[in-house]
Amino acid sequence: MQVRNHRFPPDPWCLREDAPDAASHFLNETLFALGNGYIGVRGTAEEGWSGPAGTSRDGTYLNGFHESEPIHYPETAFALAKTNQFMLNVPNAKGIAIWIDDGNASSGERFDPLQGTLGTYRRSLDLRHGVLERTLTWTAPSGRSIALRSRRLVCLDNRHLLALEVEVTPLNFSGTVRFVSSLDGAVRNLEAGDDPRIGSAVSGASLQLLSAEQEGDFSALVQRTRNSGFTLVSATLTEVADRPAVQAQCRRDDLRLEQTYAIPVAQGEKAAVRKYACYHTSRDYPETELMPRSRDLLDAARAEGFDALVVRQAAYLAGFWQQADVEIDGDDLLQQGIRFNQYHLLQSVGRDGKTNISAKGVTGEGYEGHYFWDTEIYIFPFFLYNKPEIARALLEYRWAGLESARRRARQMSHAKGALYPWRTIAGEECSAYFPAGTAQYHINADIAYSIRQYLDATGDDAWLRAHGAEIVMETARIWTGIGSYDRQGRFVINEVTGPDEYTALVNNNYYTNAMAQAHLEFAAAIAARLASEFPEDHARIAQSMSLDPAEPEEWANAARLMRLPYDAELRIHEQDDSFLSKKPWDFANTPAENYPLLLNYHPMVIYRHQVCKQADVVLALLLLSSRFELDDKRRDFDYYEAVTTHDSSLSSCIFSIVAAEVGYAGKAYDYFMETARLDLDDTHGNTCHGVHTAAMAGTWLGVAYGFGGMRTDGGSLRFAPTLPAQWQGYRFRIQLRGCLLEVGVNVAGTTYRLARGDALRFTHHGRPVELTAAQPEHQEAA
Ligand code: BGC
Repeated sequence: MQVRNHRFPPDPWCLREDAPDAASHFLNETLFALGNGYIGVRGTAEEGWSGPAGTSRDGTYLNGFHESEPIHYPETAFALAKTNQFMLNVPNAKGIAIWIDDGNASSGERFDPLQGTLGTYRRSLDLRHGVLERTLTWTAPSGRSIALRSRRLVCLDNRHLLALEVEVTPLNFSGTVRFVSSLDGAVRNLEAGDDPRIGSAVSGASLQLLSAEQEGDFSALVQRTRNSGFTLVSATLTEVADRPAVQAQCRRDDLRLEQTYAIPVAQGEKAAVRKYACYHTSRDYPETELMPRSRDLLDAARAEGFDALVVRQAAYLAGFWQQADVEIDGDDLLQQGIRFNQYHLLQSVGRDGKTNISAKGVTGEGYEGHYFWDTEIYIFPFFLYNKPEIARALLEYRWAGLESARRRARQMSHAKGALYPWRTIAGEECSAYFPAGTAQYHINADIAYSIRQYLDATGDDAWLRAHGAEIVMETARIWTGIGSYDRQGRFVINEVTGPDEYTALVNNNYYTNAMAQAHLEFAAAIAARLASEFPEDHARIAQSMSLDPAEPEEWANAARLMRLPYDAELRIHEQDDSFLSKKPWDFANTPAENYPLLLNYHPMVIYRHQVCKQADVVLALLLLSSRFELDDKRRDFDYYEAVTTHDSSLSSCIFSIVAAEVGYAGKAYDYFMETARLDLDDTHGNTCHGVHTAAMAGTWLGVAYGFGGMRTDGGSLRFAPTLPAQWQGYRFRIQLRGCLLEVGVNVAGTTYRLARGDALRFTHHGRPVELTAAQPEHQEAA
């Protein structure tokens, strides 16, 4: 485990910095980022940053708004991904520079926390209010002192809008405060460097200017992407608080639009500006509507006022926390980590069915804003059991991508079926390194798994009939397409990569085969159910996908005869046909600075060893829990733990959950701690490029599935709670089939309470429990 450096006071509801920390500026830009699932704004201050190069990466991103560029392979091959898509850095609308003078503009000094002297300082992000606030006092080199307070929010209930307010009070002089409010379109994306996880293969500006408008307090830039063909309107409206007479002086410098407000102030008097900003793109609206929508929204926001937006933000979050809050008694560090993670998930997730949740949310450019399997396997359950409407929107996104997945399947020589891309924004495969990209065919089974979870939890047959069934069956076809029967009659799947990216292009990856088996069974069951219960839907879907009546039987057979590698001697599941015969990695002689291995060894060096980047077999133990015996789980855990580096942030949460199940309480806690504070403590050293959304969701999984022992596979709801020795108790809630269940665990035992709904059945450590509206509570002694 990494050495931890808890830099923030362990406030359970707040991320707070009580002293400026220039050395962590880049990292803190990510941690203090704000978002609403669409807009993401890094935590850079309004006045910008004058620190050394490489200590900042200011950015504003729009989920799903991307540019595309051809991928250049010096040595190409058939059907390699042709085009990359990457989330664009869009104009910076939050800029407000501050100048102070004593009435004589030529004596003006620009506020810059790195010049002069900072007095008091605090920056905080209160997770209940969703407002980033900074208060400080500062003395300019001339000796003039000010107090400053800035507040910023990205509206959680209006995805196009953000708002900010900056107040300045002269403390020892009277004069003028000038606010220079800017909309800056001269922004770029990070260019690719040595770390494959960061940067895009792009050079230069991606957004071309079509027009700029500036009039009074209003500024707008109209830009178009060069290749993806989208138009973007970024707009701002600034106002001087409580002093209507102050006029803006407008200035334009190419892509930068500025309004300057000079406000005369007496010592001790406050001068303030408020700014509303919005982004609209032709991905969502006809081009002609973008400007009118921007103007209307900004006018409405100004009429409503900054304070009213602050109130609305808190109301939205109150609803979120009422459902989603996970409470830990006796561990503020973890409590902070958990809430911070849940909050960032909410900030990151697309909810419109056209966007998804990227590996770094909308907080940074790592992984280029791509969506991966992280969504279905890690993030989906958090939303499913807390905000099912968002879970459904995530599935809608996959539905929208079905045509692309069909096209990709044809490119990959599959005559039928659909193959979802390993990484993408708009649906096309963007992985330029196929051994750890396209080869991860398990993405199909992962999507089917999440659809099954959704249907089990919601009973939403309408969605099954409209979309779900077709996705599941189309994706199942890929398994019978790539698999075959070997001489012993076993169904084998060759030349794929499982979740563990330190092992590539193998035969019969355990995870893939086991998940494909579950997928094929599910597809066959759906086909049968549709035929008997919804024959019209069955006929329509069968026609749309040219389903041969014999196919469901083929799926069932392949599932029944699926090869699931098992080593009888070690009595463990083999990660794939060759894994156990590889040379073990020499961990003893691998210096700490050589991790992550992917940055220090050629892939083939890694591939020919027994070494894992992340949970693979161990993940199957969780997802398909009811198919394994406890002893098998323990042996698998022991074996794979010893060869896993956890170089992927997706690993430790899964090890925590399975450790809890097999009775390794200490390990469960340690791995959980690693996950829960992964970004706050920057344990992977790359949070500066964005938060790790899968690990963030892994924290919720760690509480519900890990310590709570919750499982839903196999169609039944089970709990097996344990209490870590470090805690006095914990509570979480889940929504399921119209019910809201609260689970509370403490030293006395477990309390289940049906907070909403008529009846719910589940098991507690194997014993059946039934809650009803008449008897909503049940207790189990420890
Ligand atoms: C992991 C993948 C994951 C990706 C994006 C990689 O490091 O190995 O499993 O999908 O990051 O989070």
